[in-house]
Amino acid sequence: MISRQQMWNLVAGGVVVCGVAAAAVISGNEPAAQAGEKAAAAPAPVEPDMHEFMEYVFEPPYKRLKAAMASEPADRRGWKPVKAEGLALAESANLLLFRAPEEGGDDWKKFSIAVRNSGSELYKAARATDFEAATKHYRAMLVQCNACHTQFAGGEHQLKP
Ligand code: HEC
Repeated sequence: MISRQQMWNLVAGGVVVCGVAAAAVISGNEPAAQAGEKAAAAPAPVEPDMHEFMEYVFEPPYKRLKAAMASEPADRRGWKPVKAEGLALAESANLLLFRAPEEGGDDWKKFSIAVRNSGSELYKAARATDFEAATKHYRAMLVQCNACHTQFAGGEHQLKP
């Protein structure tokens, strides 16, 4: 006969063994599951081709911005596309950061950050309905777009304000 105490020891021991085994199984699976989640949460290009990417992500807001900046917006309705397209281009510049080529990647990132920063200033100026500041940052942004095109697009696509 085993005593009540021995019985409890056996039960408790079993629970510990099962617990350790379960933990081993779970932690064994964890790295793979976590890596999968991390990969899914990391930014990844939807359109890896730069030609299509620039044509569909950068060109449309640039054209709308150019039209909206042709003369000083008269009211809130006029400022709205300047705010919207300025912000869209500034945020889109972030999408360039993980598209940097192996060769010249540092310059690529430098131009992308400069576009993001000028775009951000343009957006702020538009929110403050300051046309002079908006014009300054709009032009500064295009200088950076063109600088990247000079280095990475064989000098093509020199955009005008
Ligand atoms: C980090 C580099 C980089 C920056 C910054 C950049 N571009 Fe580009 N862009 C390119 C490259 C590379 C191409 C050429 C793609 C190709 O045709 O292979 C291009 C092409 C273009 C084209 C031509 C697309 C077509 O249909 O032929 C437009 C328009 C354009 N960019 C707009 C812009 C605007 C507007 C900005 C700034 C707000 C900008 N780009 C900033 C790299 C850049």
